[in-house]
Amino acid sequence: MGRRYLIAGNWKCNGTLAENEERIKVFNEAGAIPENVDVALCVPSIHIPMVLSKVRKEITVGAQDCGSNDGNGAYTGEVGAHQIKDIGCTWVIIGHSERREGFGMAGEPVELCAEKTKVAIKNGLKVMFCIGEKKEERESGVTMEVCAKQMAPLAKAIEAKDWESIAIAYEPVWAIGTGLTATPEMAQETHKSIRTWVSENVSPEVAEAVRIQYGGSMKGANAKELLAQPDIDGGLIGGASLKADFFNVVNGIP
Ligand code: G3H
Repeated sequence: MGRRYLIAGNWKCNGTLAENEERIKVFNEAGAIPENVDVALCVPSIHIPMVLSKVRKEITVGAQDCGSNDGNGAYTGEVGAHQIKDIGCTWVIIGHSERREGFGMAGEPVELCAEKTKVAIKNGLKVMFCIGEKKEERESGVTMEVCAKQMAPLAKAIEAKDWESIAIAYEPVWAIGTGLTATPEMAQETHKSIRTWVSENVSPEVAEAVRIQYGGSMKGANAKELLAQPDIDGGLIGGASLKADFFNVVNGIP
């Protein structure tokens, strides 16, 4: 084993500058961070400079998306991986289901998520690569097929060494922001299948090393049991990362 836990907050599109400064203050005063966990906050892009300047150094910072452009150019509205790295971020979330679904518009296809990941890694970022099935897909028993379809273009686009810069965030879409959480057994079963897929399609070494986070209504009250599962290496936390409860998740690691 030997994988470090990764607990990341995804603030999504929440908070004024003042509100998010207050959140940082709360997290800075939330007590020591256990030795075996990496803690990251993926915040609205516009607040990244503030968070970088105020957050304690043990917490790394990330963006919630990046462009697929490798460098400067005429890409109105995009934030490039090179800019996210340059400003001091460590992480970027790619392929979150809210972006894959496109907020009611055309969403991001799997190939684009793979390309963005390739560019992000090339520019020195680490990536939380999100995958996960919708409710109807879980109910029809195709969860792993869906996850495999989301990972296959990534495995094709990057080299084996690039996996050092990736954490897979397994987020069942039906559990995101709904209060419904996968049971620890259900999540473990899927995490194990994802690891097996990586072993068979990338390499057993990468499968053993890659961190697989769980995301979907994770909070202090349910984190401990989820994180006790052998293939759950952390969390990607939305709603609870906006509150002091985020540190109950951090402190829930075994
Ligand atoms: O990125 C985080 C996930 O979408 C989970 O969000 O904890 O609010 O369910 P949630």
